Amino acid sequence: MFQLASYKKLGLLLVCFVVMTGCKKTDDQKFSNRKISFNSDWSFHLNDSIIDKDTIGTSTKWRTLSVPHDWGVEGKFDEKSPAGYGGGALNGGLGWYKKTFKVAAEDSSKVTSVIFDGVYRNSEVWVNGYYLGKRPNGYIGFQYQISPYLNYGDKNNEIIVKVDNSKQPNSRWYSGSGIFRNVWIETTDKLHVGQWGTYVTTPKVTAEKASVNFETTIQNQNSVSKKATVTTTIFKDDTKVTTVTQNITIGANAKQTIKQVTEVETPTLWSVDKPELYTAVTEIAVEDKIVDQYKTNFGIRDFKFDLDKGFLLNGKQVKIKGVCMHHDLGPLGSAINTRAIERQLEILKGMGVNGIRTSHNPPAPELLDLCDKMGFIVMDEAFDMWKQNKTKYDYANDWDKWHKKDLIDQLLRDRNHPSIFVWSIGNEIPEQWSENGVTIAKELAAITRQYDKTRPLTAAMNPPVNMNIDAVTLQFEKNNVQINPLAAAGVLDLIGYNYAHQTYEYHKKNFPNTPFIATETTSALETRGYYDANSDSIKKWPVRWDLKFTDGNPGNTVSAYDQVQAPWGSTHEATWKVIKKHDYLSGMYIWTGFDYIGEPTPYEWPSISSYFGIVDLAGFPKDVYYMYQSEWTDKTVLHIFPHWNWKAGQTVDVWAYYNKADEVELFLNGKSVGIRSKKGDDLHVMWKVPFQAGTLKAVSRKNGKTVLETEIKTAENPSNLKLTADRSNIKADGNDLSFVTVDILDAKGILAPNANNEINFSLKGEGKIVGVCSGDPVSHESYKGSKHTALNGKCLVIVQSSNKTGRLELTAKANGLKPATIVITAE
Ligand code: GAL
Repeated sequence: MFQLASYKKLGLLLVCFVVMTGCKKTDDQKFSNRKISFNSDWSFHLNDSIIDKDTIGTSTKWRTLSVPHDWGVEGKFDEKSPAGYGGGALNGGLGWYKKTFKVAAEDSSKVTSVIFDGVYRNSEVWVNGYYLGKRPNGYIGFQYQISPYLNYGDKNNEIIVKVDNSKQPNSRWYSGSGIFRNVWIETTDKLHVGQWGTYVTTPKVTAEKASVNFETTIQNQNSVSKKATVTTTIFKDDTKVTTVTQNITIGANAKQTIKQVTEVETPTLWSVDKPELYTAVTEIAVEDKIVDQYKTNFGIRDFKFDLDKGFLLNGKQVKIKGVCMHHDLGPLGSAINTRAIERQLEILKGMGVNGIRTSHNPPAPELLDLCDKMGFIVMDEAFDMWKQNKTKYDYANDWDKWHKKDLIDQLLRDRNHPSIFVWSIGNEIPEQWSENGVTIAKELAAITRQYDKTRPLTAAMNPPVNMNIDAVTLQFEKNNVQINPLAAAGVLDLIGYNYAHQTYEYHKKNFPNTPFIATETTSALETRGYYDANSDSIKKWPVRWDLKFTDGNPGNTVSAYDQVQAPWGSTHEATWKVIKKHDYLSGMYIWTGFDYIGEPTPYEWPSISSYFGIVDLAGFPKDVYYMYQSEWTDKTVLHIFPHWNWKAGQTVDVWAYYNKADEVELFLNGKSVGIRSKKGDDLHVMWKVPFQAGTLKAVSRKNGKTVLETEIKTAENPSNLKLTADRSNIKADGNDLSFVTVDILDAKGILAPNANNEINFSLKGEGKIVGVCSGDPVSHESYKGSKHTALNGKCLVIVQSSNKTGRLELTAKANGLKPATIVITAE
C-alpha cells in the first residue's frame, strides 16, 4: 500500500533544500511541509526616538527574544494609558525587530518567502534595506517573496520589522503589540503551489460517497513555460484513499488554477464528537521529478442551517453551544502559543462547548487547526468596524484601502478548515442602521461568496430594531417591528444578532425565510470565588449601564452567583433557557468563554480585565461552568457553592447545579437542610442555610438511589501551598508549557477560600516562568513577574521548556505558609 510515510520522506528531502541558519524546524512544521520556523533570535527595541529604520543601528538598547512576542503585556498597568481601560490599561508604542540570517547557496535558484501570521499593527518590513511593504491590520497573515533581495552562501542577511501601535486607542479590548504570531520562512521551487493555493470542497456527501473537488493555483516563476503533472492524493490516517492526476502546461511567470474532481467511498465524516480529518497532498512533478509538495487538511461533512430544525450536521440536529473568545491568552498576553490555546479549548470542551466565535477578527491559524482536530463549530469573523470608527485610531481609518484585501486573504487562508461553518462580516457595525451599511454589506457578501459559497454568511448585528429592549418586545408583540436595514436587506444567509434573547421567539415571524443564530449572548459578570452570601440581594452591582462599581461591591468584585449581567445581556440561565427550548434557534455564542484583558465593564479603574468569562483569566472555572456542564455534557454533575467560610449565624444561599438525578438533599454537619428538585425549566436549586462551621454535604439521587455526593468544608487558617501541574511531562522544544495551579490549603488540606497571599516562585533547571495570574480583574501585578497574589485561594504559574531536556523544579513560597515544590520533566 502507498503510505504517507513515503511522502514524508520526500517532504524531508524537500525541506533539506532549505539550509538556513537563523531558522529552526519545530513541531509547528506539521502544519506545512515547506515552511520552517523563523521565530528565534530576533532583536527587539521598544519606543525610542528612533522612527527611521536607517538610524536604528545606532541604538544599543536591543534585547534578544523569540517571537511570538507581545511587548504590551510586559509593561505596567497604567491608569493613564492612552489605550484606556478598554485596552487593558497597557500601552502600545513603536517597536522594532531585526534578525540576521544566512541562506544556503543552493537556494538561490528557488523562491524564498517570509510569512507573518499576524503583527499588531501597522507592520513594515525590510530585507537587506529593500522595503517589502506595510500591513495595517494586525490580525491577518501576509507574506513577502524575498529571493531577489537575499545574499546566498556565507554572507548575512538582515530583516527589519517596524511595528507601530503608538496611536491609541485603536481597540475596544486588549490587542497586544508586536510580532504576536508565528513567523516562517518558506522555500519552494520556482514552479509551486501558490500562497493559500488549494481549495478543497465536498459538494455532495452521503454515507456511501463524498465528492471532493480541488481547485489548485499553480505559480510558475520561471522565465520559461513548464510542462508538469499535478497529482493530488487524499490520505486518511496515513493511508492513501485516492489520487487524481492532471498534466498542465503553464506559461512563463504565470499563474494557473486547475480543477480536479474525485470521490471518497464510505467517507469518515467530520463531526464535533469525532472530528475526522483527511489530508490532501498536492505534488507538482516535472519530468518525473517532484519539485513541490503541499499539504492541506480538510474534513468531509454535510451541514445546513434549517428554518425549523436549526443546525444540522451530517443530517443530525446539533445545537451550537458556543462561546466568543478574544485572542489574548491571559497572562501570556497576545503572543500565541499553541499549547495555551489547546488548554483553553480543552477546558471549554470539558464544559460541553462545541463552538467558537473568533470575536472580532481572524484568529491565529493554530486556533483553527486545533478546532479542526478537536471538533468546534467556528464562526470566523472579519471585522469589528467598517468605515465608521469605534475608537479613534482603529481599523476604520484603514478601511478604504485595505478591507478588500484583508477579507480576501482571510477567506483564502481559512476556507479549507472543516471547523468553520459561518463567515461573519462584522460585529455590531454602526452602519447596519443605514443604507450605506447595506451597500458595504453587499460588497463584503459578494467578495465572500466569490471565494467560498459553501458556508452561510452572517453579521453579528444589534437586535433587529434600534430601540431599548422593553420597547422591542412590545413592538414584536404588536407585530409592528422596524427591522434594521441590514437585517432586512436580504444580504445575509443567517440572521445573526447579539443579545435580546427576549426577542428570539419572534424570529420566525419577522424572518420567515432566514434561519437564526445568536451571534453573541449573555454578558453576565462574575469574579471567580467571590460571593455575596445572600444571592437575593446582590442585584446591586451595575445592573444599569450608568451605574459604577462604587454602587456595588467593595474592591470592584462581582458576586459569582449567576445573577449579575450587563444591561444589554442576561444571566447565563436566562438565555440558555430560550435557546434550549426551540429547535429553530440553531444555537448561540456566549460572551465569553474566558475572561480577557481589557473591557472591564464598566470601564473603571482599578479593573483592567473582563468579568464576562465563564472561566477566569488564569483558566479557573467560575461556578456557572458547572451549570453548562450539567446541561451540555454526558458527565454526571453535582456542584454546590459558595464556599463554607462565613460568619456564625449568617444566612447563606447555597446553590446546586446537577443532572441525571431527580433531587438533591443537602446536609449541614450531618443534619438534613432539605431536599430540592428542579421544576419546569429550572437550571439550579437553592437552600437558605444559617451558617454553622463544619461540613456541607450534597447528595443527588435518582429513583431513591444515590447518584453523586459532594462536600465543602469550613477551612481553618491558610497553612500550606499545593502545586498541581496540568502536564508534568512537556516537550523540550522551547515552546511547550506546563500550567501549574497553586492552591492555598489549611492544615487539613481544605482550600482556604478567602486566602489572598502573595506567592513567590522560583524555577531550577532549563526553562522559565512565562506567566503568573490569579484571575483577579483588579490586580495590577505583572503577569510576567515571579510573584503574584492569589485570588480566593488560587493562583496559576506557567512554566515553559527550553530546547534542553531535563528536570524543571518549581518552588512556591509564601510568608507563613509551608512551601511546595513540583518537578516537571522536559523531554
Ligand atoms: C458586545 C460587543 C462585545 C463586547 C460585549 C460586552 O456588544 O460585541 O465586543 O463589547 O458587548 O458585553
